[in-house]
Amino acid sequence: MDLVITLDNQSSLPLYRQLYEALRTAILRGQLPPKQRLPSTRLLAKSLGISRTTVTLCYEQLLNEGYLQTAIGSGTYVCAHLPDDLLNAAPVTVPEAIAHPAVSWSKYGHTLSQLIDKPLINEPDAAINFRYGRPAFDRFPIQLWRKLVARHCREPLDWLDYSPDPAGYQPLREAIARYLARSRAVQCTPEQVILTNGTQQAVHLITQLFIDPGDAIAMEDPGYLGARRTFLAQRATILPIAVDQSGLVIDQLKAAGDRIKLVYVTPSHQFPTGAVLPLPRRMELLAWAQQTGAMIIEDDYDSEYRYGVHGAAAKENRPIPALQGLDAHYLVLYAGTFSKVLFPALRIGYLVVPPHLIPVFRQAKWLADRQLPSLEQYALTDFINEGHLERHIRQMRTHYDQVRQVLVAAFDRYFGERATLLGENAGLHVMVRFHTSLSDAEICQRAAQVGVGLVSAQVHYLNPQRNGEFIFGYGEPSPSQLYEGIRRLAEIGL
Ligand SMILES: Cc1ncc(COP(=O)(O)O)c(C=O)c1O
Repeated sequence: MDLVITLDNQSSLPLYRQLYEALRTAILRGQLPPKQRLPSTRLLAKSLGISRTTVTLCYEQLLNEGYLQTAIGSGTYVCAHLPDDLLNAAPVTVPEAIAHPAVSWSKYGHTLSQLIDKPLINEPDAAINFRYGRPAFDRFPIQLWRKLVARHCREPLDWLDYSPDPAGYQPLREAIARYLARSRAVQCTPEQVILTNGTQQAVHLITQLFIDPGDAIAMEDPGYLGARRTFLAQRATILPIAVDQSGLVIDQLKAAGDRIKLVYVTPSHQFPTGAVLPLPRRMELLAWAQQTGAMIIEDDYDSEYRYGVHGAAAKENRPIPALQGLDAHYLVLYAGTFSKVLFPALRIGYLVVPPHLIPVFRQAKWLADRQLPSLEQYALTDFINEGHLERHIRQMRTHYDQVRQVLVAAFDRYFGERATLLGENAGLHVMVRFHTSLSDAEICQRAAQVGVGLVSAQVHYLNPQRNGEFIFGYGEPSPSQLYEGIRRLAEIGL
């Protein structure tokens, strides 16, 4: 075999993978033709100066994928009959400027094509990472989850079939309706619960069903970018409404006009400032919606976690009922998710819609993706009905409360007056306002240099673009990592 193979010991790609890529590319390009005999693993390992196990691993992979075959006693060969699609596979490298036919996007596609250079998520990759929106994965009861999934992953095999119900598995919807009534004072029947692929899909379905280009949507400013992009993609007119220490400023909403079709709010833990909308404002918001005919999207994304509510203070500080439970006029579309209390890749959330909207939402959900995977829905039903969900939430609340206290103490110690913490009594993140004149990009860069990953809140603002505000997710890092992270930040000249 006269093929030059270069391996790079410094590369992040393992050696066996580099060798695999080199041989596979040579086979696809015909440099190693069908029936060509390959050197023995011992010989190739010796000539490349790598271990025989590395070569064996690579050969095994190519054998499994049908690129190589073995003949007893006579070695390893390139397969005589490579599948056509492998032979015709596109070259591995794509040229920088690809010649392609003109694309005739829909208006929706066109709008998205205008948005692609504005990334949705810009997550740091550092030794100590304050990414937000992640629970503590190492505390997820994985053994139990495995048991529950295995319980249903067996015969009879009906669960392999399409589900008859686009709104989701009925027992799960029943379990969620009961859970929401207990924990959030949401009032609904199981039929009103439409299971979604997370809150993102709930917001997407609502936007599709209610918004035409030019329609007005009011939303908190700062507010969740995932929701804002969905509205923008549908070419809604977005009206930014300021947020103060008590959440959405209702007077501003009232002044924004009476042609607003939807209002998007995160009343229980405003994203990202963490403000909690007090009861009088909730009632005012509902009264305004009733007067103007606007619908309210209530995104209750991490309301399960509230802290610092002990003793006498607990009474005043107890979670305020969801807007949905206070609404007597079917104005609220309530969205919740298991992304924070369980794990985001589960992709199960719920949308509670007023009864008269159920049939259209069911249709929309069917057309969007037909149904959620059955197995996870079955496992989640048992998880809730057997009491594991609420137990897990209780345990995690204690854990996050401790982590949160470490974060607050670290800021106190290392920053004192130089930083203000917002919304630290709930959720899985705090917003931190650094009193500095440095730009956010500069701060992120300096933080990265000391191995700390930061997320600026800037992208969540529509107007004006604030400087020095950062979202500190504390679900992921351990308390000691977190403390060390803040200590390092104190040394970057903020
Ligand atoms: C404000 C807000 N809503 C909802 C979500 C969750 O979305 P999903 O349920 O699609 O994972 C997030 C995730 O970070 C969020 O920050």
